[in-house]
Amino acid sequence: MPAITAPRGTRDILPAESWKWSYIVSTASRTMRDFGFSEIHLPVFEYTELFSRGVGETTDIVEKEMYTFTDRGGRSITLRPEATAGVMRAANENNLCAQGAGAKLWSWGPMFRYERPQKGRYRQFYQIDAEYLGVAGPMADAEVIALSIELFRRLGLRNLEVIINSVGCEKCRPVYRQKLVDYFTARKDELCETCIDRLSRNPLRILDCKNESCRNAADGAPDIFGSLCDECREHFAQVRNGLERLNFTYSISKRLVRGLDYYTKTAYEILSGDLGAQNAVAGGGRYDNLSRAIGGGKIPGVGFACGLDRVALVMEEQGCSFGEVPGVSVYCVAMDDESRGAVQALTHNLRMSGISAECDTAGRGFKAQMRAAGNCRFACIIGADERVNGTVSVKNLADGSQVSVKAGEAVSYLEGKL
Ligand code: HAM
Repeated sequence: MPAITAPRGTRDILPAESWKWSYIVSTASRTMRDFGFSEIHLPVFEYTELFSRGVGETTDIVEKEMYTFTDRGGRSITLRPEATAGVMRAANENNLCAQGAGAKLWSWGPMFRYERPQKGRYRQFYQIDAEYLGVAGPMADAEVIALSIELFRRLGLRNLEVIINSVGCEKCRPVYRQKLVDYFTARKDELCETCIDRLSRNPLRILDCKNESCRNAADGAPDIFGSLCDECREHFAQVRNGLERLNFTYSISKRLVRGLDYYTKTAYEILSGDLGAQNAVAGGGRYDNLSRAIGGGKIPGVGFACGLDRVALVMEEQGCSFGEVPGVSVYCVAMDDESRGAVQALTHNLRMSGISAECDTAGRGFKAQMRAAGNCRFACIIGADERVNGTVSVKNLADGSQVSVKAGEAVSYLEGKL
């Protein structure tokens, strides 16, 4: 029988990699705390309607990429393809923004999209997500963008590009949409089939089609700045001011439209020069109509999500530090079978004192135990002599020196050394 493998587009994050992920998540946790964000955890599956209404019926995510199934109760359920809609649902359901209060929430975990797997693109991937709810003003946008830039600074990422755009609001986007429809209808024969379909359903998405002919056609397309209403124009100017005050380098990308329909006003992405085709390490923006689209109150919001898998890839490629390599400090070694009980007790005592310790539980001989101790800083050796004398031989594995300490003092001796 062929062995069962992990499903296509998924992978196992094994110990050789998982400690690096822990470093990224704990750095994110500290950064979020420093910016006043609190951690939340939400279901990984939601009612399908949350995403069809929230992310948008005509997006690739909803049309082609969702893992949707009917549960045993006959309800349509979807594995979350992103976190923002769920965070907004939770804010509404738990009244987190009652009486105009703001809420700063962050989370991390797996997301699911049925996409074609390639480098940096998986069907189960992980996001670190931050959402600032309840504040409509541009300072919140600047703060969220600053948070993402600061996270990447702390992780040591280099060679990043911040691109921003405005996608307007329900007042001015229809005007822009019509301009695009007029423009692209005249160039219909240059568009790919998907974009011809987009022309009636979601013409803004033509702007970020990767097809060369579509890109050429889009080169001369009108930009949104000619169509923005006064409010959106002023908002964008203030976001830019906010970024410039903090001395951030960014560029304006008129083609940045994002693949989710809930955006209003600010949209942004952070790109890495070291990722290939899937070069976005983070994306986000403002979504002032999302709450109402999913049946909630009027709660504005702005946020971002960064791809943990991609951040880890770029850090690896750039040789960034992941902090201290985790390992056990002390290995307790039994020279004979009679000493195994004492070794087990010493190991547990060390662990109770917060010293990471390991011992053999498989009945291996002295030499094999010493080999296993190889990566530790100290070996605590107990044999017949030690048992008789009530001592432990503590060997410093870095310099080979060895001392004899009283059994009752071994833990405090090592506490002083580690
Ligand atoms: P998104 O641009 O779809 O936005 O995803 C954000 C990030 O998740 C991407 O920049 C990328 O790093 C990572 N990502 C997306 N798809 C994959 C994949 N298949 N494999 C690996 N990594 C992936 C959102 O999801 C929005 N919810 C962001 C947001 C939060 N907007 C406002 N608040």
